[in-house]
Amino acid sequence: MKNYKVGVLGATGAVGQKFIRLLEDHPWFTVTAIGASERSAGKPYHEAAHWIEDISIPENVKNQIVKTCDPKAMGDVDFVFSGLDAAVAGGLELEIAKAGIPVITNARNYRREAHVPLLVPEVNPGHIEMIKKQSYTAENKGFIVTNPNCVCVPLTLSLKPLADAFGIESIVVTSMQAVSGAGYPGVPSLDIMGNVMPHIGGEEEKIMWEPQKVLGTLQNDGTVKNAGIPIHASAYRVPVLEGHLLSVLVKLGKKNVSLEAAKEAYANWVSPIAHHQLPSSPEHPVKLMENVFFPQPRLHAYSAKGMQVSVGKLRKAGVYDFAYTALGHNTIRGAAGGAVLNAELLVAEGYL
Ligand SMILES: NC(=O)c1ccc[n+]([C@@H]2O[C@H](COP(=O)([O-])OP(=O)(O)OC[C@H]3O[C@@H](n4cnc5c(N)ncnc54)[C@H](OP(=O)(O)O)[C@@H]3O)[C@@H](O)[C@H]2O)c1
Repeated sequence: MKNYKVGVLGATGAVGQKFIRLLEDHPWFTVTAIGASERSAGKPYHEAAHWIEDISIPENVKNQIVKTCDPKAMGDVDFVFSGLDAAVAGGLELEIAKAGIPVITNARNYRREAHVPLLVPEVNPGHIEMIKKQSYTAENKGFIVTNPNCVCVPLTLSLKPLADAFGIESIVVTSMQAVSGAGYPGVPSLDIMGNVMPHIGGEEEKIMWEPQKVLGTLQNDGTVKNAGIPIHASAYRVPVLEGHLLSVLVKLGKKNVSLEAAKEAYANWVSPIAHHQLPSSPEHPVKLMENVFFPQPRLHAYSAKGMQVSVGKLRKAGVYDFAYTALGHNTIRGAAGGAVLNAELLVAEGYL
């Protein structure tokens, strides 16, 4: 297997630091360029980044000099990961793609573009083909692949076994989101300590729209027909460090599904990318737990190195068909780890 030289844009931020951590020992990818703002450029990484991970800064990047995020500064990388602030990601990522460097990004800017995949590898791997219709460069060397919002990932992954077995008619979801979801320095401590904030700007709208594309159908013209599932979302910020917990109510396409059949759907579900055996792919991307006190962010956010979505309290609901709790690590499965898995799938399917 070829070893790929990769750049990380926004390497100093909360998601950027997760990239640095996840790529430390990656068997296929080596970080050879790190980019951030003019404030950080020119400094060694350990001085530029306000390191918030609970391990030491990996030796391979500790003394690398932070660059700006333009294509020249990235040197001869094979592709870049982006954890850029959405306020600047649009222009910078486009410049990189137009220079012929593939961009695998967490930022929201291109998620709704007609030919840009919004990819959760175990949910909609076929959408990867949309890349073929992109035209950032003449020979399509530079393309853009996005991963969804950190709630959309655990929501769609936790729904997938039910969607495959019975179809989905409508969803009500309430997310209890960790403070790390707001980046660094994030939510003021006086707002969140011992408190819950009942609104996160722009979040509910993203949670209602993004699953439509992820669960949508790829058409012959390389665009996705959105799923058109009615979704109502409420997003709350809670005093948790890592891991977004979701309370989900789901109405199924098939009527009178028993609880046993719903549990079997989770037990029997096989990830459509399992055959690739990708380095970051957990054996069980979705795990149904029987203990009604599970999952909990503190206990389960790091399940399967943060790549597993845990589902619990699956039960018949008073309204709709079923209710359950889902948990996903927001900066790993919902951001950097999801992007690394996207890149691994792109390699396995010959796009990189
Ligand atoms: N946190 C999550 O759970 C999560 C989940 C999914 C997706 N996302 C998305 O991922 C992206 C990063 O989020 P985050 O939480 O890591 O944010 P963050 O902690 O605020 O980090 C932002 C990064 O962008 C860089 N940046 C800011 N302005 C720049 C400029 N003008 N030129 C170049 N670089 C610039 C910063 O560099 P400096 O340090 O030099 O300022 C920093 O590295 C966002 O688009 C966010 O919406 C986040």
